[in-house]
Amino acid sequence: MNQILNIETDQQQALLLLLNFLKQQDYQFTAITPLSHQRILARKSQLTNQKMTLQDIFGWNLAFAETDLDPELFALLKENQLLRIQYGQYLSLVRVASLDHDLFIHSSFPTIEQDSVFFGPDTYRFTYHLQQFLAARSHSFKRAVELCCGTSAAAIQLAKSVPNIKEIIVADLNPKALFYSQINANFAGLKYIAPIYSNLFDHLDGPFDLIFANPPYLIDADQRQYRHGGNQMDGCELSFRIIQEGIERLNPQGCLFLYTGVAIRPDSHPFLEQLEKLMVSKANVSWTYEEIDPDVFGEELDQPAYQHIERIALVLVKVELRV
Ligand SMILES: C[S@@+](CC[C@H](N)C(=O)[O-])C[C@H]1O[C@@H](n2cnc3c(N)ncnc32)[C@H](O)[C@@H]1O
Repeated sequence: MNQILNIETDQQQALLLLLNFLKQQDYQFTAITPLSHQRILARKSQLTNQKMTLQDIFGWNLAFAETDLDPELFALLKENQLLRIQYGQYLSLVRVASLDHDLFIHSSFPTIEQDSVFFGPDTYRFTYHLQQFLAARSHSFKRAVELCCGTSAAAIQLAKSVPNIKEIIVADLNPKALFYSQINANFAGLKYIAPIYSNLFDHLDGPFDLIFANPPYLIDADQRQYRHGGNQMDGCELSFRIIQEGIERLNPQGCLFLYTGVAIRPDSHPFLEQLEKLMVSKANVSWTYEEIDPDVFGEELDQPAYQHIERIALVLVKVELRV
């Protein structure tokens, strides 16, 4: 046990040094969808004798030679088991993405493992819309929670834009997400972000002024934690539970912001219908539902689990508890 803790602490230090090194080099990298990422990798594999960049190593996650990296950084990553050997070359076991001027550790490509930690286009859209939502509100928040936090990118952005906030909990049931979240928060210099292991609200105490989440929303054949939104409601089970359970955890004037994907059938809209039913009994709640993109993850419609689905839409659900 002690040995595992030591490895984690050493890895944490090593990853913080990696982030600092990249920051000094003005590293920026926008994480794109796995399909687009794969296309760029195919394109890059055609090129020969190209100089390997930091973006190639920590963004595109290409195999590299020892001499491609700063010697001290290479030694540090190797010593802390953060590199994998492949055909005599090395692959980083983490990637680093940027959002505005912040950097975030997330999982290596491809994200096929059960405990992969997600960062991608949904993260950018989620944080953007969350910022817009907060900018339009005048109430102050003292206690907030990001459920299904992944790298905690949204919580970290929030902490920087809402200075009076006292406590931000970031919760996930993937220990690796919590490990990366702690590193990302430390790197951002934010001491009051607390990662907590929790299946939605199960291990969280007390009420909140703000609850926000971008949960998994697909029906993933491999049931990967960062992708699978539950077996009920065509993958929208977690999204629905966040609203249902979240309403009970809001302080008066508290609000909930959900960014999610919704599977829509040709003749019905099960998620919205369930939401309308739930809200009928909530006299002190005001809420909105808006579609921000009518069609994402179109390739999923080829999957057996999606044969009764016409499209997957991105939606925002905003809930406020009146006094
Ligand atoms: C799509 S990722 C989103 C991560 C992050 N919110 C973002 O926008 O980048 C979904 C996250 O939800 C977590 N998750 C899945 N089921 C969960 C549950 N029942 N309770 C808490 N977290 C969960 C996964 O481990 C994963 O980190």
